[in-house]
Amino acid sequence: MKIVTIVGARPQFIKASVVSAAFRSSSDMHECVVHTGQHFDSNMSDVFFDELDMELPDIHLGIHGGGHGEMTGQMLIELEKVLLVEKPDAVLVYGDTNSTLAGALAAVKMHIPVAHVEAGLRSFNMSMPEEINRILTDRVSSILFCPSDKAVQNLRDEGLQLPVERKSTGYSPLIFNVGDVMFDVALRHGAKVNEQGGVLGSLGASHGISARRYCLATIHRAENTDNPERLKNIFDALLEFSQEVPVILPLHPRTRKIIESTSLLSAIRESKSLFLINPVGYLDMVQLEKYAALIATDSGGVQKEAFFYRVPCVTLRDETEWVELVEAGWNRLASPVTRKSVLLALRAGIGSMGQEVKPYGEGDAANRIVEYLTGDGFV
Ligand code: UD1
Ligand code: UDP
Repeated sequence: MKIVTIVGARPQFIKASVVSAAFRSSSDMHECVVHTGQHFDSNMSDVFFDELDMELPDIHLGIHGGGHGEMTGQMLIELEKVLLVEKPDAVLVYGDTNSTLAGALAAVKMHIPVAHVEAGLRSFNMSMPEEINRILTDRVSSILFCPSDKAVQNLRDEGLQLPVERKSTGYSPLIFNVGDVMFDVALRHGAKVNEQGGVLGSLGASHGISARRYCLATIHRAENTDNPERLKNIFDALLEFSQEVPVILPLHPRTRKIIESTSLLSAIRESKSLFLINPVGYLDMVQLEKYAALIATDSGGVQKEAFFYRVPCVTLRDETEWVELVEAGWNRLASPVTRKSVLLALRAGIGSMGQEVKPYGEGDAANRIVEYLTGDGFV
C-alpha cells in the first residue's frame, strides 16, 4: 500500500514523527511525505525532522504566506500534481491547518481516500480558520482517527457513521478512537528530558530562572494575534504576572511580526521578568513544559502537553477543543477580554492540580493508525 502524507506546520511534523516511524516498520506500507512549506523557518520546521528521527520530506512544495485563499489554493494546485504522479492508495492528513484542508481536498477530488488524524475536534467557533479546516476535512475523509471519545461523539452528532462497516460510497467514513498521537510522542521523548542543560540551563545561567518557578507562555492564534485589544490584554497580564512569577515566552513568528509593529514590544523589552525567546525545538519545549509552575497558552498541542507533564494550564481562548482537561481541572479557560480576567486566571492556575484521568488512549495511536490502514477493508 502506498500512502502520501501531507504536512506543513510545526505540530504536524511532531505528530507525523511517530506515525511515519510506524509506517517504516511496516513491510506492507510505503509512505511518501510531502511538506507544503507552510512553516519554513528552521526553528519551525527543520529542527523537528532532526530531533524526532524523521526522514526528510520526499517532496517540498515551498508554499507559505499570503491569505488563506492564496495559500490553500496554491497548495491545492501543487498537491494535485503530486498526487497525479504518486498515485497513492490513500492520503493522510493531520489536524486543522490550511495544509490539512488543501491535502484533503486535492485527494478527494481525485477519488483518493483521505485519512484524517485528529478528527472530530470542534471548538464550535466558525470564526476560527481551524474550525473550518477541520469540519471540511472530516466531511470528505474516508477514515477518521479520533484522539478521544469526545471527538467521536462530535462526529456522531454531525451525523457521521458509528464505527461500523464502511458503506460502498466511500463517503460513509470509518471512525476510530485511536488515542492522541501527541501522547505517543510525549511518551517516546518526554522521559529523555531532565532539568539539566538545554534551554532551561541557559535561562538559569543568564536570568536566574529555576525549575518549577516560572510560567511558560505561547501565543499564536489568529483570534488573539489579529485582535489588538485581546493581544494587549494578554501581554499586559503576562507582564504584570511576571513580576510574581517570571514568564518565558517562545515567540511564534506570526506573533513576532505583529508585536514588532506595536508599542507592546518596547514594554516587553523593558521588562526584566518576561523573557521572549525564539521558537525552540521539541526537546527544549518539553523541558520548558515539564519544569514549569504554570503554562499559559492558546496552542492546542501545548494544552495537552501541560497535562501529560501534570502542569496546570491556563488557556487564553474563549473555548477549547480539549474539553476533557477543563472538566478534569487541569486546564482553565481565560478569555482575554480584559487584562484582569487573564491575570486572575494566571494567579488561580498556580498550584491547581486536576484529577487523574486518561482521555487520550494508551500512547499506541501511531501503531493503531498503521494497523487500520494496512488492515482489510480500507482500500
Ligand atoms: C498555523 C495554523 C494553526 C496552527 C499553527 C501552528 C492555519 C490556518 N493555521 O498558524 O492552526 O495552530 O500553524 O503553529 O493553517 N511564519 C514565518 N515563519 C514560519 C512560519 C510562519 O515567518 O516558519 C509567518 C508566515 O509567513 C505568516 C505567519 O507567520 O506571516 C503565520 O503563518 P501561517 O502558517 O499562515 O499560520 P500560523 O499562525 O502559523
Ligand atoms: N512547540 C515547540 N517549540 C515551540 C513551541 C511549541 O516545539 O517553541 C511544540 C509544542 O511542544 C507542541 C507543538 O509545538 O508539540 C504545538 O504547536 P503549535 O502551538 O504551533 O500549534 P497548535 O498545537 O496550536 O496547532
